Amino acid sequence: MKPWSAPTILLAAAALAAAAPSAFADSSGKWKSSQETYDKVCAYCHEANVGPVLTGRKLPPEYVRAIVRSGNRAMPAFRPTEIDDEILAGVAKLIATSTAK
Ligand code: HEC
Repeated sequence: MKPWSAPTILLAAAALAAAAPSAFADSSGKWKSSQETYDKVCAYCHEANVGPVLTGRKLPPEYVRAIVRSGNRAMPAFRPTEIDDEILAGVAKLIATSTAK
């Protein structure tokens, strides 16, 4: 995998921080659906050449959940207060069963 340049990562982090108040959850503090979470959080990097493409790779759901909870280098970790277990399980399933775009 190609190394992520510091400027790219800083830009992405800054952009995500700016988007965060509206990006994380609705007024009830919960995501409506796993699809919405993927579209608003994961796609922000993973469909924008900041993170590797996730769809169509049959990534195991356990792997996706582990990376999301613990993070990995430039990949930020998300706490259960940000993405709860139920929504995350749905996101992982969605990625695992997705086809390449
Ligand atoms: C701020 C940008 C950003 C966001 C938001 C983000 N990721 Fe990532 N993700 C990355 C980057 C960058 C990597 C590559 C990390 C590395 O290998 O250095 C990565 C790696 C991953 C990997 C490992 C991919 C592989 O090829 O092994 C998975 C799985 C993953 N992310 C899932 C998710 C999911 C699910 C979400 C949404 C809940 C998400 N990410 C949100 C930036 C992001």
